[in-house]
Amino acid sequence: MANERVKFLDTTLRDGEQSAGIGMTGDEKMEIARQLARLKVDIIEAGFAASSPGDFQAVTDIARQVKGPIIASLARAVPNDIDQAWAAVKHSEAPRIHVFLSSSDIHVMHQLRKNREEVMDMAVAMVSRAKGYCPDVEFSPMDATRTNPEYLFQMLAAVIKAGATTINIADTVGYAIPSAFAQLVRDIRAKVPGADKVTISVHCHNDLGLAVSNSLAAVEAGARQVEGCINGIGERAGNASLEEIIMALDTRKDLFKVDIGVDTTQIYPSSRLVSRITGMSVQANKAVVGENAFRHASGIHQDGVLKDRSTYEVMRPERVGVPGSSLVLGKLSGRAGLQARLEALGYKLSRDEVSKVFESFKALADKKREVTDRDLEILMDEEKRVAGEPASYTLQHVQFVGGDGIPTATVRLTGPKGETLSDACTGNGPVDAVCKAIDRVVGASGKLVDFNVQAVTEGLDSIGTVTVRVEKGGNIYTGRGASTDIIVASAKAYLSAVNRFLAADEAATLPAVGTTPD
Ligand code: KIV
Ligand code: ZN
Repeated sequence: MANERVKFLDTTLRDGEQSAGIGMTGDEKMEIARQLARLKVDIIEAGFAASSPGDFQAVTDIARQVKGPIIASLARAVPNDIDQAWAAVKHSEAPRIHVFLSSSDIHVMHQLRKNREEVMDMAVAMVSRAKGYCPDVEFSPMDATRTNPEYLFQMLAAVIKAGATTINIADTVGYAIPSAFAQLVRDIRAKVPGADKVTISVHCHNDLGLAVSNSLAAVEAGARQVEGCINGIGERAGNASLEEIIMALDTRKDLFKVDIGVDTTQIYPSSRLVSRITGMSVQANKAVVGENAFRHASGIHQDGVLKDRSTYEVMRPERVGVPGSSLVLGKLSGRAGLQARLEALGYKLSRDEVSKVFESFKALADKKREVTDRDLEILMDEEKRVAGEPASYTLQHVQFVGGDGIPTATVRLTGPKGETLSDACTGNGPVDAVCKAIDRVVGASGKLVDFNVQAVTEGLDSIGTVTVRVEKGGNIYTGRGASTDIIVASAKAYLSAVNRFLAADEAATLPAVGTTPD
């Protein structure tokens, strides 16, 4: 008998984006969506269309342009959200509306301030409304794991009758324990009329560190859709790590006996991309995609792996797309060597693009003895960032004088009309002085609320990536910059955030587009 298939819904662009401090541009979301299509997830939850004009546009663009997976938008159980979700996803060849509504008494009484009957009526009415637009409707009872089971079963039966095709059991606050969660899935299958006609999905948060275990227990109990995010990003402690669930089902197929449609070799490129775009680094010992996931340190392990890799590896690095042994690139390397390495890392470049990157590569190789894969990723990211960003201002030069005197920074920028602008400022430290000097040049200032430096490679000549979050007018803007000089990287990162808030200010003065269903 053929195995059943488990589908994956990736919500990196929706729940993942809800991680504290993450804000992605439309272009960045599109880039992730395209990568998720290469990964062959079954459903991409592209956003929450009604939440903002930016999200509406991002979901619309992804629905129009990304082919392969189903494209879903989240919607609260209110008419306008459903209408907006449909207006955005209807452009997809395979659209889905995902309606959610709280079901636990804690949420129903304290957050919604309604009673169970009223909430039940809302759920049914809004699933019917969604069904009027779209054949594929998912319904999520929010906080399902803290919901009275009998009420949960009644609600699920009612929304199935109203047309839901997927029912998603949300462990919204990461409260579930694998054995109890699996039992809940079994009870739903046994007690909810119509449950055998729809897909049972699970959506687990990681507050107790159990999101992946709960998801896998649910699959064993019969769930056939799993939701999660790349690198496990998401609200609070995050969502279930999609790559861990995928690799558990793949590696232990003997046990789970289910098929998946994912191209596992796209896992590592997906993880790197999400980490770079969100600025959320992946811990070195993270399962499947961490830097140490396939490194063997102890002598006994090394000896075993050299004789036969299966002695200490349950999956092969190639299976998740980790590129093979790193060829060392340096200042004597040529265009062909660079191109070959970039291709191994998953970048497909035209001859012109290679020539452009080659210049930056040479400049970097002059400063660094070895240019590693991580350096190349940063280089590519910088190229793409600079090309795709709303760049009113670009950095020409930054100089800093510190020591035990007064920290002073001078910056020279190219302005929106190509003019050269410069100014200097003192500050209480190098980064503060640089940001203030930039503020003076552009005539606007944001509040630096987060500043994160990451050394990309080991050694004193390593590239540092700086990610900043800048608050302006109640919104958070992210900026990234990379350089072998940390002050230069900081200036680039801050300027990138400044360009973003200047572009948003400008957009806000234009009439809003695309927020009403057509
Ligand atoms: O965690 C949650 O309950 C959600 C729902 C919207 C599915 O993200
Ligand atoms: Zn969630």
